[in-house]
Amino acid sequence: PNAVRIAPSILSADFARLGEEVRSVDEAGADWIHVDVMDGHFVPNISFGPAVMKSVRATTTKPFDVHLMIAPVDPYIDAFADAGADCIIVHAEAGPHVHRSVQRVKSRGLRAGVALNPGTPAKMLDYLIDTVDLVLVMTVNPGFGGQRFIESQLKKIAAVRKMIDATGRAIDLEVDGGIDAETAPRAVAAGADALVAGTAVFGRRPDYAAAIRELRGA
Ligand code: DX5
Ligand code: ZN
Repeated sequence: PNAVRIAPSILSADFARLGEEVRSVDEAGADWIHVDVMDGHFVPNISFGPAVMKSVRATTTKPFDVHLMIAPVDPYIDAFADAGADCIIVHAEAGPHVHRSVQRVKSRGLRAGVALNPGTPAKMLDYLIDTVDLVLVMTVNPGFGGQRFIESQLKKIAAVRKMIDATGRAIDLEVDGGIDAETAPRAVAAGADALVAGTAVFGRRPDYAAAIRELRGA
């Protein structure tokens, strides 16, 4: 397969210097900018909304990978599309109409992703996989950066890899949570081709290039 994509999560960036932080990881070799949006309802934390994302959008031309931890999510899809998202990821657990949410993202001409919480089976994708461009397997319970990688999810990554290969379509398999130099190669061996990293990149301030190189070495 292709080289592994590295998507630094700006949740772990210095919010007082968010634009500079995005530019730094861009120059350091990030493939995508991962944007974690938390609503204090679907997840027990609040991060930032579309206005903040829109103001940093101008600092880079790299694709914005927007992970919406929002329920209900449909009322906010247009706002993140307008703010410059390239891929919008919705959670399978965020409501009864995830298929409609995916359709809504697609109707804006964007790439659509579905995220699965650690407790959600790969089977959730059975009737979604044909319409999505990306699957995000959560290897922590979403809400906070800096948590430990949940080992049981390696099996799910492998199961999703099989499902993706069976479609014959180019669907990205991204893994999010607790990714570092030790867990990255294991996630990739299980079938991941894109890795989100918050702490492992921004925690290595100022040498983001070394951090990204190390993860890519996986
Ligand atoms: C978790 C977020 C992740 C998180 C990753 O709720 O979706 O993107 O910021 O952070 P690390 O890499 O520190 O686990
Ligand atoms: Zn995320």
